[in-house]
Amino acid sequence: MTILVTGGAGFIGSNFVLDWLADPSAEPVVTLDALTYAGNRANLASLGGDARHTFVHGDIGDRALVDRLLAEHRPRAIVHFAAESHVDRSIHGPGAFIKTNVEGTFTLLEAARAYWGALQGEAKAAFRFHHVSTDEVYGSLKADDPPFAETNPYEPNSPYSASKAASDHLVRAWFHTYGLPVVTTNCSNNYGPLHFPEKLIPLVIVNALAGKPLPIYGDGRQIRDWLYVKDHCSGIRAVLAGGRLGETYNIGGWNEMANIDIVQTVCALLDELQPDAAGPYARLITYVTDRPGHDRRYAIDARKIERELGWRPAETFASGIRKTVQWYLANAEWVAQVQSGAYRDWIDTQYTASQPAA
Ligand code: NAD
Ligand code: DAU
Repeated sequence: MTILVTGGAGFIGSNFVLDWLADPSAEPVVTLDALTYAGNRANLASLGGDARHTFVHGDIGDRALVDRLLAEHRPRAIVHFAAESHVDRSIHGPGAFIKTNVEGTFTLLEAARAYWGALQGEAKAAFRFHHVSTDEVYGSLKADDPPFAETNPYEPNSPYSASKAASDHLVRAWFHTYGLPVVTTNCSNNYGPLHFPEKLIPLVIVNALAGKPLPIYGDGRQIRDWLYVKDHCSGIRAVLAGGRLGETYNIGGWNEMANIDIVQTVCALLDELQPDAAGPYARLITYVTDRPGHDRRYAIDARKIERELGWRPAETFASGIRKTVQWYLANAEWVAQVQSGAYRDWIDTQYTASQPAA
């Protein structure tokens, strides 16, 4: 048996594929990825010629292609990561988010339904559609609100989170209406190796090393719940293996931190691991205009996945962020490769026009 992983050349998807295949007894993987600006074949390069991995360059919205892959590889599960994932990009151009996150997920669900519907016996019972989603669908918390539980109402605030919320609703409906065997995970902010440097933590690391400003939106007191990416991957494996059908599981790090504290931590680690003769990296911190509609606080109540499946994160923030900074220091070539023309265009769009806050 095989699993089909969509978006497996992106940040979390590639970590998932690499971790999955690190187990010599693991089932083979077919990766389907459109290689948008965020997808990178080099993320999977360490697999070399591993015969258990097949890479397919294509779009989840291409129904004929998805049908062909399902017929050819007969996967026992689809793990669906493929998405447009960056909130700031969704503000500049929401169309791609609707296309991939909503329409693409719809296409994938329909293909999965046709494939699963024709399966028999054991294969039919074993099949899973695992939808990878985000805590952002729940909206924004006030300072003293309890963390997001699976029962929180959906209140998405950005085009990105609205598109992910829409995809979650489609997945839910395909379970209730058609009986498609789905599980959904809603995870908090990931960080770790292979993270594209448009997101806060990798952006700060690569900018600091280049002596560039470290942009902090607004007052920098927004709170996120940070989880090391490999812990997210182990949570997905736990839910794929033992999650109850039609259920959602929140995954988080029990680690709420304000953005400015994240950036200060990264700067302190860089001061230790690669000191800059010009002075502490924190000198580069620059407050800039806030993100429109910026959610103030996310926090995850991850008790359900712990209670039902025994999952807890293995890394603390201190251990995970150290590994992450070390990874970026050891992989300057990867960083240089992803900072292509398209990356520079984005940095100009997002930051050059944005004025430092008064
Ligand atoms: P990413 O942007 O790094 O990677 C997305 C991948 O999907 C890329 O490889 C891209 O090429 C591919 N892709 C995009 N459109 C496609 C399409 N139409 N067809 C096929 N492939 C396509 O994203 P990520 O950070 O790795 O996030 C992966 C998933 O996890 C997303 O669904 C995201 O919503 C979710 N998630 C992310 C985080 C986070 O902190 N990054 C947290 C919770 C949930
Ligand atoms: O919560 C899960 C979500 O986390 C995922 O669903 C998204 O795919 C992922 O991108 C992430 O969304 P965020 O918007 O929280 O991540 P980002 O790294 O873009 O920003 C983290 C925080 O840092 C947020 O409050 C905005 C702020 N920020 C970000 C950037 C890029 C800055 O202050 N400056 C920046 O330059």
